[in-house]
Amino acid sequence: MSHVPTAGPLAGKRVLVSAGPTYEDIDPVRFVGNRSSGKMGFAVAAAARDAGAEVVLVAGPVHMDTPAGVSRIDVRSAAQMHAAVLGALPADVYVGAAAVADFTPRRVSEHKIKKTAGTDTLVLELVRTPDILADVSAHPQRPALVVGFAAETHDVARYARGKLVAKRLDLIAANLVGGAEGGFERDDNALAVYWDGGERPLGPASKHEVAAQLVDLIAGRLPA
Ligand code: PMT
Repeated sequence: MSHVPTAGPLAGKRVLVSAGPTYEDIDPVRFVGNRSSGKMGFAVAAAARDAGAEVVLVAGPVHMDTPAGVSRIDVRSAAQMHAAVLGALPADVYVGAAAVADFTPRRVSEHKIKKTAGTDTLVLELVRTPDILADVSAHPQRPALVVGFAAETHDVARYARGKLVAKRLDLIAANLVGGAEGGFERDDNALAVYWDGGERPLGPASKHEVAAQLVDLIAGRLPA
């Protein structure tokens, strides 16, 4: 039986975390997805719990055990994650660690799409998904601290700072993805956290250690 702390720098706070990928269905057997394992978001949820918070974790399709003491809501698609996250407000903190699909098929085929004789290509029309992070930030019940992640393959600082402003975030935790040294699927990570007027590198270290450092930073920046 794990010990679930009730004291700590986030005692009395409600923390909402999203984690994992979303799957956008094409037909009954196929989907558009991504490589997120959920490890980073689940580590953030566990670290927030360790800091004494009440934690709600909205998880895309992952193979991860729920951290003890954390309430988990499972979803599949970006639309479902959007509804679950907004439905779980109010919260003091939102951390968007999920790798939410930016696009989803305009329509889901009722039947398995078949190969057509004489046709070598298939064109899928994709439409934008709702931006969960931006909608949380603009919500009437906006958490005191809205924290985004940025997964970038290059120009990490520039793109992360752009998202900080565009989505009106309080903090953004950027990681390099697509290369050998971190981000998706691995047990370790390195983050560069940006806010208006500051930045701090976290790690490289295990995702649990990096998450604990991120939660410390969040607790320190949360209005009393
Ligand atoms: O799950 P792991 O395998 O441990 O990998 C961890 C991770 C790489 C997925 C994680 O560290 C990470 O970077 N998560 C964010 C991935 C992402 O989608 O980044 P982005 O730069 O595309 O999106 C920016 C932010 O907007 C993110 O907070 C994202 O949750 C949010 N977003 C994006 C699109 C959308 N429709 N709604 C959103 O809320």
